[in-house]
Amino acid sequence: NATRKQLVFGRVLHFLADPGEADAADSYEYFPDGALWIVAGRIAAAGTRAAVEASIAPAERAAAEITDYGDQLILPGLVDTHCHYPQSAVIASFGRQLLDWLNDYTFPAETAFADPEVAAHTADYFLDRLLAHGTTTAAVFSTVHAGSVDAFMAGAEKRRLRMLTGKVMMDRHAPPALCDTVADAERDCLALIERWHGQGRLRYCLTPRFAPTSTAAQLSLAGELYQSKPDLHVQSHLAENLDEIAWVKSLFPEARDYLDVYDRHGLLGPRSIYGHCIHLSPAEVARMAETGTAAAFCPTSNLFLGSGFFNHAAAVDASIRVGLATDVGGGTSFSMLRTLDEAYKVSQVHRRPLPPLRAWFLATLGGAQALYLDEFIGNFAVGKEADFIVLNPRATPELDFRLEKTDELAATLFALMILGDERCVTATHVLGERVSAAAD
Ligand code: GUN
Ligand code: ZN
Repeated sequence: NATRKQLVFGRVLHFLADPGEADAADSYEYFPDGALWIVAGRIAAAGTRAAVEASIAPAERAAAEITDYGDQLILPGLVDTHCHYPQSAVIASFGRQLLDWLNDYTFPAETAFADPEVAAHTADYFLDRLLAHGTTTAAVFSTVHAGSVDAFMAGAEKRRLRMLTGKVMMDRHAPPALCDTVADAERDCLALIERWHGQGRLRYCLTPRFAPTSTAAQLSLAGELYQSKPDLHVQSHLAENLDEIAWVKSLFPEARDYLDVYDRHGLLGPRSIYGHCIHLSPAEVARMAETGTAAAFCPTSNLFLGSGFFNHAAAVDASIRVGLATDVGGGTSFSMLRTLDEAYKVSQVHRRPLPPLRAWFLATLGGAQALYLDEFIGNFAVGKEADFIVLNPRATPELDFRLEKTDELAATLFALMILGDERCVTATHVLGERVSAAAD
C-alpha cells in the first residue's frame, strides 16, 4: 500500500556501527520511550516518541495506524547470513562430522528436491519458520535443481521478503542425481538470474557448494558469472572441518591454501560470503579482509558437527565483515537468539566474551553489512525498508525471574540472547506489515 502510514511505539533499539567490546556510545541508539514512523513500508522517522510525533503533521498522524508495543523491544529484523532451506528436515541427524554428514544425511535429503512440490512445501515451511523466529532476511542455499530456486524465490516474493538464494553448483563428488555439469549450471544460472535477480527484493546468489564438489572449470564459470552483472552475490563454504581442508589440498595442489582456490577463480570480493571460516591461516584472514569477502559465523552448526570454534573477535580485529548464521540443517535452531547463545559460548573459548550490544549488532546491521545489503536493511535509518521485530524480554518464567530487578539495556539484551528463543518474538513486521505474531 503506497500511502499506508504507521506509528509504532516501544523500546526502540538499533545500531549505526559495531559497538565493539567496549559498547561504543555512538554505535547505537536506544529510545526507551521510542517510536517508528513508517510510510509505505519504509522508515520515515525513528527516535523518541516525542520527537517522532513532533515531526508528523497532524493530518498525517490522524490517518496513521497506531500500534503500541508498550515496554517491549523493537529491533530491526534479524539477518541469517547462511542457511540451507532443503535441510529443514536434516536438523538433528545423529553422530557424524561434516563429510559423512553430507553423504549420509544431507545428499539423500536434497535429492528429493527434484520434485517441485517438495521444494514448494519446504520453502513455505522454512520461510514461515524464519518469520516466526524474527528473521526477515537470509542468504539461503537451494539445491542443484533449478526448480528448488524457483520455489524459494516464489515463496519469498509472495511474502515480500529481502532474500538471497541460488542453485547449488556441484559437478563432482556427489551422488549422480545431485550433480550438474558446467553447461547445465551455466544455462540454469543464466535463466534463474533472468527470472529472479532484482525482482522486487530478491537477488540471485551464485552458490558453488564448496571447492571439493566443483571442478576448476565450474568454479571458473561461477567467477565469470559473478563478474558479469552488477549486484550478484556469491555464497559457499570455507575451512569448516579438518578432513575437508585436507581433501581440498589434495584436489587443488596448485592452490596456496583453501581460500586461494576461490581466489583463483574470481570468487572473492564484495557480496561474497563464506560459511564457517574456522581454520584459516593469517594469509587467508588478510586476503578475506583485503577483498571485502565476508564470513558467516555458524556456532550451533560448528558445535553440532564438531567442526571447531570460530574466532569472531579476531576476525573483526582483522577487518573481516562477519555475519551470524544458523546454518540450518547443520545448525540446530532457526532462532538467532539460540544462535547468539552458542556464539557467546564459543567466544568464551577464545577468552573474548561477546558483549550483548555487539551480539545484537551482529544479528542485525552486522549481518546486513556482511551481505552488502545495508543500503536497504539492518537499522532504522530514514529510507530503509521497515522490517522489524518486537521482542518481549519477559516472555518466559526464566527471563521474567532473571529480569525482575533490572530493566537495564545490556542486562536485558544479554538475558534475551542467553535465555531467549522464538517465544520472545511477539511480532515480525515486513515492510511495516505484521506478518507473524506470537499466537501464530
Ligand atoms: N560444506 C559443503 N556443504 C555443506 C553443507 O550443506 N553444510 C555444511 N555445514 N557444510 C557444508
Ligand atoms: Zn552451510
